[in-house]
Amino acid sequence: MKINRRRFLKRTLAAGSLAVGTGSLLSACSSFRRADLPDQDLSKPISAQLDPISGAILYHASLAPSGHNAQPWFVRIVQKNEWVIGLDPQRRLSEVDPDNREALLSIGAFAENLALAAGTCGFQAEMRIIAENPFQQDIIKVSLKPTRPNDYPLERLTRRMTVKQGYLADEIKKEDFRALSEPLAGRLFYFPKGTEHANCIEEGAIENFRIQANRDNAQQELVRWVRLSNKDAERYRDGLTVEGMEIRGFKGWFVRNFIKPQDFMKPSFRKQSVDLTAKLAQQGGGWLVITSEGQTVADLIDSGRRFERMTLLARERKLAIQPMTQYLEEKEGLEQIAADHAASVIPQFILRVGYLKNYPDPVSLRRPVSWFVRS
Ligand SMILES: Cc1cc2nc3c(=O)[nH]c(=O)nc-3n(C[C@H](O)[C@H](O)[C@H](O)COP(=O)(O)O)c2cc1C
Repeated sequence: MKINRRRFLKRTLAAGSLAVGTGSLLSACSSFRRADLPDQDLSKPISAQLDPISGAILYHASLAPSGHNAQPWFVRIVQKNEWVIGLDPQRRLSEVDPDNREALLSIGAFAENLALAAGTCGFQAEMRIIAENPFQQDIIKVSLKPTRPNDYPLERLTRRMTVKQGYLADEIKKEDFRALSEPLAGRLFYFPKGTEHANCIEEGAIENFRIQANRDNAQQELVRWVRLSNKDAERYRDGLTVEGMEIRGFKGWFVRNFIKPQDFMKPSFRKQSVDLTAKLAQQGGGWLVITSEGQTVADLIDSGRRFERMTLLARERKLAIQPMTQYLEEKEGLEQIAADHAASVIPQFILRVGYLKNYPDPVSLRRPVSWFVRS
């Protein structure tokens, strides 16, 4: 077991993602990607309570996706191998996610990554939901129990990313859908491009994006999570960077140096982003929808975990998956869904899906482990 844990750490370090580095040599001509702003040196203990293995497990957990890349989690170390995963109220998206639904889905994804990483180094992560409502800060109690290590490929965690552009129109192959469905246990639905249901989702995704882009409070909240300059990217290590928004080349350089987050409030900018979203929504092989049985904290954590387990399978099948969430955030979208479906249908994710010719490398930033760990 010891050898395996050592191997886990070595593999993590070899991936280059944890080595010490500043990235400060980058000029204004290029922008920060994840590899330019690595985590602190996790071969050394982060604190008296957090040994290198625990640090590496939490680093992998933090690679989970989250709305606006707000990374709404914190981890409290209760004692060795006993942690609490919490929801940081400072990182809530109160305008687009007033009930913390998406924050809890993201925390579910974080918990899933944590469990997978722990499993590879010989710990079973036993999890118990302790929050009684979505507004409590302490969400999940985690106990790490020694067990036989498994061989889950951690590259799936370090290489997962949300891709937005370049989707091909091919229909999703049956065997790929079958593989993606497995973690969802009957709660994943695929609507191939051009079918009536897919057309309806496409239309609703665009329309609700437009509604949200024109809702000042929601747009202002987005502005707070946009990190356009390299200075902001390095300072916050979260949110939506120019690279993360897939604005590349000359355009990327221009945005980094001449556009301010507040410019996102301008009508011309809002129109541009609606037009781009409409273009993207029409690309790809259709839509995936994930539903849940209920809306409790446990249901949301469970959905987030299953969603993550599914998206971790996407890259090796050359599939890109992008949440398009505005449909589930805007009053108009929710009312339309309720009118067209039975109350028992509870959608948690609406996802565009499509094959890619070339899969890019992950670019979105993460806060170092020490920034979200509390003792
Ligand atoms: C609950 C949830 C909602 C999301 N909603 C959107 C969305 O509406 N549009 C989008 O482009 N990405 C969405 N994302 C993806 C995040 O923007 C992405 O995970 C984050 O920027 C980090 O990037 P990464 O997934 O490449 O690591 C969502 C992710 C989660 C977990």
